[in-house]
Amino acid sequence: MGRLSIVVVTDPEELACVGADLVAEEIAANPTSRIVVPTGRTPLGLYRELGRRREGGAFDMSEATVFQLDEYLGIGPEDRRTLFGWMDRSFLSPLGIPDAHVVRLPTGGDLERACAAYDREVAGNGGYDLAILGLGANGHLGFNEPPVDRAAPTREVVLSAESIASNGNYWGVADDVPPRAVTIGMGPLLAARRILLVVSGTGKHAIVHRAVHGPVSPAVPASYLQDADDVTVLTDRSAWRDPEAAA
Ligand code: PGA
Repeated sequence: MGRLSIVVVTDPEELACVGADLVAEEIAANPTSRIVVPTGRTPLGLYRELGRRREGGAFDMSEATVFQLDEYLGIGPEDRRTLFGWMDRSFLSPLGIPDAHVVRLPTGGDLERACAAYDREVAGNGGYDLAILGLGANGHLGFNEPPVDRAAPTREVVLSAESIASNGNYWGVADDVPPRAVTIGMGPLLAARRILLVVSGTGKHAIVHRAVHGPVSPAVPASYLQDADDVTVLTDRSAWRDPEAAA
């Protein structure tokens, strides 16, 4: 049986601070934690807050190991759109994570084999301690697009039209979004010891409620969080709202 707690905060600033507290708590308890880190807009404030704490000497996660959540396929390493580049700029560099503590997803060669080996190695080392996740407007976690099996492994995926449209906002136009990607699978994510889902903005209102109150279903990948072990859904008020007030 899962344990899911919902923390509703006033605004993105409070979300950043409360999220940073949770990450800091994890690192304090286990400095060598294995942490999955997403891109996307929602966690950026949280990353900036962690960076500020690090600058002030109040936070250090340089002993942790950081795992990439997803990556586009079919673009070169220097391409401005790589999610690794985004993660580097927003998280790895500001937090001083040494290269040796960064685990990237496979993106070439025999991907099916490489992804299976990747999952085996992660599981062999005890899995992920903390997965920080954003919520797609279509309910995806990473690029686990609906419908997805709860046991889906790390693998190559084709992005949904909805994800292409929403990621188009990052790069200017939807045409710029690579259509294929690799993502940590639903199965290994759900097996993380602890999950922090960050949700912000009115556009996420309907999907966050479907995720936490709706039926657990392949059609809403985030609904599987209802059955995961230790989940914190950290949402600002504009995403959450009071359902009665919103009616
Ligand atoms: P966002 O992305 O934080 O930019 O809304 C979330 C996601 O699509 O996973």
